[in-house]
Amino acid sequence: MQIRFTLNGNAQQVDVPEDMPLLWIIRDKLGLTGTKYGCGIAQCGACTVHLDGEAVRSCQVEAGSLAGASVTTIEGLGTPQAPHPVQAAWIATQVAQCGYCQSGQIMQAAALLHSNPSPSDADIDEAMSGNLCRCGTYPRIRAAIHAAARTEG
Ligand code: FES
Ligand code: FES
Repeated sequence: MQIRFTLNGNAQQVDVPEDMPLLWIIRDKLGLTGTKYGCGIAQCGACTVHLDGEAVRSCQVEAGSLAGASVTTIEGLGTPQAPHPVQAAWIATQVAQCGYCQSGQIMQAAALLHSNPSPSDADIDEAMSGNLCRCGTYPRIRAAIHAAARTEG
């Protein structure tokens, strides 16, 4: 089926099966590989993107539900010249280790700060609990979210 939606501010039209996951469309059809495949069953958060401003697991969003939607991936969150405050805090805090989970972590954190500009440790732990990191960067993720909250505030 033909699907029209917006990706990182640009109009897109793709011809894909109705049940193709958004993650496949982003990576394989449109070539944006910053969003990662981890589990495919909504258990890891590596594939997190924003759908109409909400953090979602793109491995669980089917093409058929995308018509007219606005999707933002890590490539559209900021630029090297003008990083999103969460990206800037991530760099300053040197959060990443292997990096595989990090786009999903950043997208989840950006959505958290959009809805709660000054989260507590408990708020962060709750919001980020579905984003797994096998390298155990959780303390730096929390520190970076607090740093980004101060920047945005
Ligand atoms: S790949 Fe989507 S939650 Fe793991
Ligand atoms: S930085 Fe390696 S999985 Fe999170």
